[in-house]
Amino acid sequence: MSTVISRKSIDDVINATAIDEVVGDYIALKKRGSNLLGRCPFHDEKTPSFTVSPAKGIYKCFGCGKAGNAVSFLMEHDSLSFSDAIRKLAAKYRIVLEEDNIVNREEYNESQKKRENLLIALDFASKFFIEQMQTEEGKIAGDSYFRERGFTRQTIEEFQLGYSPQSWTALADTAKKNQYNLEYFEAAGLIKKREDGTYFDLFRHRVIFPIHDLTGKVIAFGGRQLVKDDKSPKYLNSPETDVYHKSNVLYGIYQSKKYIKNLNNCFLVEGYTDVTTLHQAEVKNVVASSGTSLTEGQIKLIKRFTDNVTVLYDGDAAGIKASLRGIDLLLEQGLNVRTVSFPEGEDPDSYCKHLGSTEFQNYLKTQEKDFIIFKAELLMQGVGNDPIRKTEVVKNLLTSISLIPDALKRSAYARECSRLMDTDEKLLLVEINKLRKNKSGIDSQVISQEIQEILHTKTDLPAEEVYSGGDEQEMNLVRLLIQSGHKKFMEDATVADFVFKELRADEALKIANPVFQRVIDELTEMIEQNLSFDENYFINHTDSEIRTLAASFLTEKHELSPTWFDNGIMIKTIRENYVHDLQSLFLFLKKNKIEQLIKSNLEEFAKAETDEEKDFCMHYHIQLIGVRNIISEMLGTTIN
Ligand code: GTP
Ligand code: MN
Repeated sequence: MSTVISRKSIDDVINATAIDEVVGDYIALKKRGSNLLGRCPFHDEKTPSFTVSPAKGIYKCFGCGKAGNAVSFLMEHDSLSFSDAIRKLAAKYRIVLEEDNIVNREEYNESQKKRENLLIALDFASKFFIEQMQTEEGKIAGDSYFRERGFTRQTIEEFQLGYSPQSWTALADTAKKNQYNLEYFEAAGLIKKREDGTYFDLFRHRVIFPIHDLTGKVIAFGGRQLVKDDKSPKYLNSPETDVYHKSNVLYGIYQSKKYIKNLNNCFLVEGYTDVTTLHQAEVKNVVASSGTSLTEGQIKLIKRFTDNVTVLYDGDAAGIKASLRGIDLLLEQGLNVRTVSFPEGEDPDSYCKHLGSTEFQNYLKTQEKDFIIFKAELLMQGVGNDPIRKTEVVKNLLTSISLIPDALKRSAYARECSRLMDTDEKLLLVEINKLRKNKSGIDSQVISQEIQEILHTKTDLPAEEVYSGGDEQEMNLVRLLIQSGHKKFMEDATVADFVFKELRADEALKIANPVFQRVIDELTEMIEQNLSFDENYFINHTDSEIRTLAASFLTEKHELSPTWFDNGIMIKTIRENYVHDLQSLFLFLKKNKIEQLIKSNLEEFAKAETDEEKDFCMHYHIQLIGVRNIISEMLGTTIN
């Protein structure tokens, strides 16, 4: 987790930043009047439509519609969080950042200091372990271990691999000699206090794999025994600390993130050595879950860089079955999941060494399988013609499919599944939709599913009944996040979790207003870091548009916005009834988006020249109207 930068520092950075200089680091810009023009880095284009306004400090692409300021440019372009983008700008403009908290300054300073001291201890230990590779003992034990396993110099350096000596006190003594406060080494799980008050090392006689966060800071270690010894674990891992939350960390993300982003795919493996070996074989878009089952936090981390995951299984059946649940979680987050499995007894590391780089890459390409198909085949093994067991398998598969947010993908899988299982496709789709409805009371994606079934709905919508301005709902969403973001929404999700998930799940739900988008980005960041905030935080914001927005939150007229009336029913206040309101709010948002689509489609229709184009627009129009009717109906039943 990254630290929080003070308001003042953010101001300083933003004031010092020249958008043309920042964008200019990435693309060539030519002067056009008071603006600059270049080729958009976010989509493919031949004629430049990416416009930068140095005076306003913003950019906008007239091709793809992306817009923002220098900070959002870096966030988007380099997949950085808000604070990391600020850090990058601070480095560029040589501004020293102060760290701060907005609400609980004292408490924050306290925990901030602790985190910093932990990181200092971890950094010192990491350097210590690296240095130990050069000692007589380190060369014989550590370095030769790595060499025997085929680690190259470059890999050792890139992953900052090290060695912890056999001594009981090597690290504790060295840290003490260098006048470090040993308390933090203990808190980091590196050493432990004896009864007599002296300390002993926990990582002893092991090769060391430091675990980095996204920005490259060492936050934990994994240490592997050199020789098999059943009395101690093969891998010793750092405990959970204030800087190391296992469930939000993936081994190798720092070294692999740019490859994951560029190749738009992430290989997921189990072990440290799988990551390092694959890197060495030029398969660099790879991270490890470190032997644990996948968590939502880890998936979110992957989603920052790509929507495509390929799970590489160790070649043992028990392990595969155990990991199926983790993969359902991937599906649920809207990721496209493929799998590659390896022969019995092999893991990606061993098999990669066995085949060599080229052959291994080939193997990945040819053996890659869609997860659902893979799972179907796996579960069907040994089922034969037993109808009861077959039904169980089908149910199991349908549950996986029902988790996929995209309706089109779901129906494609239903088709595939009906073929594989020799079952009626329509029946499967009905089952899938039932499963989805059971999962949560209201399901946004059911709506897009419905688009296919609605083709027959006739409608006579007058052309002028089109939508204008969706800002009220978006503003309500932002308000809701500020006021209730931390509150519990469902079993194990907060309001913010739900909102972000919805926004991620549905492409059509992009926030149109860039100011709201900026607020939401910042809120995401703060909620991730567990910071508290309220309108007052935004009232003091550096961004004047955000300040204005926050100010309007506090004025009475926005307490009840006119768009909260529909079908003659009014939603009372957003404050008390937030769970219910949130569901309705999303429906409103969706309704607005649909109306926007209807409007632009009608415009297209007016411009259409060929019968084919007209036909297409008509067809689409009918679908859209059908969807709108469904949403209206749902609004009618959810609001009371
Ligand atoms: P090598 O034997 O060195 O090739 O490691 P591996 O990655 O093949 O090990 P394995 O497949 O046994 O385990 C996969 C991952 O699970 C490891 O990289 C560790 O992160 C984790 N792991 C394995 N053994 C232990 C253990 O004893 N304790 C803990 N905490 N984690 C372990
Ligand atoms: Mn292995």
